[in-house]
Amino acid sequence: MSRYCQYLLPMLLMLLLMSPTRAAEVKTQKELVAHRGASAYAPEHTLEAYKLAIEQGADFVEQDLQASKDGILVCLHDRTLERTTNVEEVFPERFRRVTVRGRERRQWFVVDFTLAELKQLDAGSWFDEQYSSSRIPTFQEAIDLVRGKAGLYPELKDPEFYAREGIRMEELLLVVLKRNGFQEPGAIEHTPVVIQSFSKSSLRRLKFEMGCGLPLTYLVGDLEGEDGLTHARLLEIRKFAAGIGPAKKLLLEDSELLSRAHSAGLLVTPYTFRSASVPESFDSVAAEMEYFLYELGVDSLFTDNPDQFPRR
Ligand code: G3P
Ligand code: CA
Repeated sequence: MSRYCQYLLPMLLMLLLMSPTRAAEVKTQKELVAHRGASAYAPEHTLEAYKLAIEQGADFVEQDLQASKDGILVCLHDRTLERTTNVEEVFPERFRRVTVRGRERRQWFVVDFTLAELKQLDAGSWFDEQYSSSRIPTFQEAIDLVRGKAGLYPELKDPEFYAREGIRMEELLLVVLKRNGFQEPGAIEHTPVVIQSFSKSSLRRLKFEMGCGLPLTYLVGDLEGEDGLTHARLLEIRKFAAGIGPAKKLLLEDSELLSRAHSAGLLVTPYTFRSASVPESFDSVAAEMEYFLYELGVDSLFTDNPDQFPRR
């Protein structure tokens, strides 16, 4: 019996320490989310940017998701194509006229193009001529590249816009994730999945109507009204989300926000840390990340510069 105890007790203790619940409760390892891939060094949301992010040690690679006319999820930040592709040259007539801040503009919407058409576009030259063969990746291509090497951090972009276009982004996302075996946390080794969105209703739908068991991050760009993100509001968010992703300035404007979020049980992952725009008070993006991670105590962050992420 005593020999039993000698081996059994330490084993039980080890299993307890390694259990997923405990890992979720106590997050000691700071995590690096590569924002649009290693987007400081390669064109955002291309396989080249994702590959570089993995080489630079990203824990997660972010994908902003849009949907094509034929219902395929693709990785692109904007819902229109003209900033990061040569769509105006390839499909000069395929624009919509929209009014932006009182001025009429022509815009080429992803949802007006089939995947075959999107694949004709050069998605890299806007960044650097050497990337002229880069293409807009599908979410499936991103999964195939990242799987087993890092986590996925897909963002549902503009789900309300797509719903008006007759496309349910939440359904599309869960179908792709399920097809790849990502229904539950920890389903695929080395590839955790976190779903993020600025749309509270979209995240609530995923959680409460669609039974999504993956962790959700609620993105917040402002403090949501005069009284801000109060403890009560954060507790409401905790009902559907595992964490919040605030614009980094919010943590400086409201110095108690981080501790309120933590005490509500929420992880905090601010965005976006980039060498292209470092605030004057920091010497470098590495110093800025160091401050947020180890002085303030955020859990993880989004950065365009994975190679500058300070590990301890
Ligand atoms: O998803 C976090 C951060 O990326 C949100 O901003 O506009 O870059 O998607 P955006
Ligand atoms: Ca994003």
